[in-house]
Amino acid sequence: MSVFRELFELVFAHRQVAAVVEVGVESGQVSAVYADLGATVYCVEPNPDERLREFLSAHPRLNLVEGTSPEILGELPAADLYVLDGDHNYAVVRRELAWIMEHAPDAVVVLHDVLWPCGRRDFYYQPSPLPPSDVHDSTRDGPTVWHDEVTPAGFVGDGAYTVATHAGGERNGVLTAVEDALADDGAGWRFEIVPAVFGFGVLARDGVPGTAELFAALRPYTSSALLAAMENNRIGLYTRVLQLQYEARTHADDANRLAETIAAQQREIERLRGELDRANAEIATRRHELQGLRDELARRSAPSRAAPPELGTAVTQLGRAISARVRRDPDSR
Ligand SMILES: C[S@@+](CC[C@H](N)C(=O)[O-])C[C@H]1O[C@@H](n2cnc3c(N)ncnc32)[C@H](O)[C@@H]1O
Repeated sequence: MSVFRELFELVFAHRQVAAVVEVGVESGQVSAVYADLGATVYCVEPNPDERLREFLSAHPRLNLVEGTSPEILGELPAADLYVLDGDHNYAVVRRELAWIMEHAPDAVVVLHDVLWPCGRRDFYYQPSPLPPSDVHDSTRDGPTVWHDEVTPAGFVGDGAYTVATHAGGERNGVLTAVEDALADDGAGWRFEIVPAVFGFGVLARDGVPGTAELFAALRPYTSSALLAAMENNRIGLYTRVLQLQYEARTHADDANRLAETIAAQQREIERLRGELDRANAEIATRRHELQGLRDELARRSAPSRAAPPELGTAVTQLGRAISARVRRDPDSR
């Protein structure tokens, strides 16, 4: 919201603002703007992280209030400016406005997110303290301007918040809460919207000094068709970027899964190669052993193949000896 500094400068220029209650702080970036403009700031945040604590404690005019709105509002000093940017749903905003209109009727109220996507659709910070009767059917998917259905490629909370499944209808959205507050208790109150960066709403009671001048100073913004057209264009492009980011993440996940599959297959190929190498080494050993056995067999069978010539020689010699004897002694036959 620090982008709205020039609008806050107009508020401070036309109204006495000594104390600000800032509902929904997150980083504390905007809190410093109010302090810079001279106010003491009560920074209401249910979930301050360490960085926010350090940031706020370093600044003497910024006071961390750890709690939830609207319950905490009655425990704080009355403020001249309430900036509502906490839980963006009908039930909470409606009660915040009811409390402020009753207890701080001279204050200026600034509401962020009075246009798309929260204007006609509840968002619920998680875990939500709201009773089920205050919560519409909700989802972790998010809206987009490209179609009516919520989608994981839309304006999603990534666990920080859920959103009403359907937009529109009764008791749904921040702008609906403002309209109902005005209809029920808003006699003499005036509400204008600067159609930029999700919608900057300004609510103040006519007749309080500086109110008419403030709305006159805001008029170039609140009546600007150019701003409204640029906001519509910005949201179109923004939701398209959200969709592309979602697709890029999905493709990156697919690519990671594919890379893991390829790596696993490569490991399997390496394992099979190792097995193949071991099998080839085993075959080589067995071949070598086989060759050894063949050689051994050949070596062992060599004498038996030489026997016939030796036997032949003996037979020949025996034949010759018998012939010689017969010749010497013919009667021995
Ligand atoms: C959109 S962020 C506020 C951004 C901040 N105003 C800025 O412009 O930087 C909404 C914050 O409201 C806080 N929050 C949620 N529910 C709340 C509640 N009931 N009361 C006060 N703060 C709340 C969330 O923790 C979150 O930090």
